[in-house]
Amino acid sequence: MVEVLILYYSRTGRTEALARAVAEGVGRVEGARARLVRVDYATVEDLVSCDAVAFGSPNYFGYMAGLLKHFFDLAWSVRGRVAGKPAAAFTSGGGSSSSALLSIERVMEAFRMVKVCDGVVSSGMPSEGDLEACRRLGEALARAAIGGVSSRG
Ligand SMILES: Cc1cc2nc3c(=O)[nH]c(=O)nc-3n(C[C@H](O)[C@H](O)[C@H](O)COP(=O)(O)O)c2cc1C
Repeated sequence: MVEVLILYYSRTGRTEALARAVAEGVGRVEGARARLVRVDYATVEDLVSCDAVAFGSPNYFGYMAGLLKHFFDLAWSVRGRVAGKPAAAFTSGGGSSSSALLSIERVMEAFRMVKVCDGVVSSGMPSEGDLEACRRLGEALARAAIGGVSSRG
């Protein structure tokens, strides 16, 4: 069974709703399970041990939330152990700017993670379309995790 970690921050619940939809998408794929962890309860070992990861954040001042950035700062010490990991990102904002998403995707690239699909930018209350896009993102991560594990043997 592969594990897809969904690492997110949310203060008023919108990003959390997107994170739960990502978990639903992971659950659509046989052989994969989702693990939802709010980033302030996560350790860098959670990132190292998962088979794929989704990062979710509200847009704060055109960037990811500080707690997620802090997590990335701590995780830099284990970058060699997360290189090649399948990853994707999703964000929630008051507006529709993709700046927070791009800030996360830049960090994914710095860690040499492999972006498996386009990220999701949700504006305001998550729409059914946003939730479905997050379910598909979860599915893509689960399939990439299964493919990665089987190619490693
Ligand atoms: C400190 C702060 C800064 C924010 N900055 C932005 C911003 O630059 N652009 C934007 O679209 N929304 C901004 N917002 C709005 C949030 O991104 C938005 O309400 C989001 O849906 C909240 O997600 P959550 O419910 O998961 O906490 C900001 C909110 C806060 C509290």
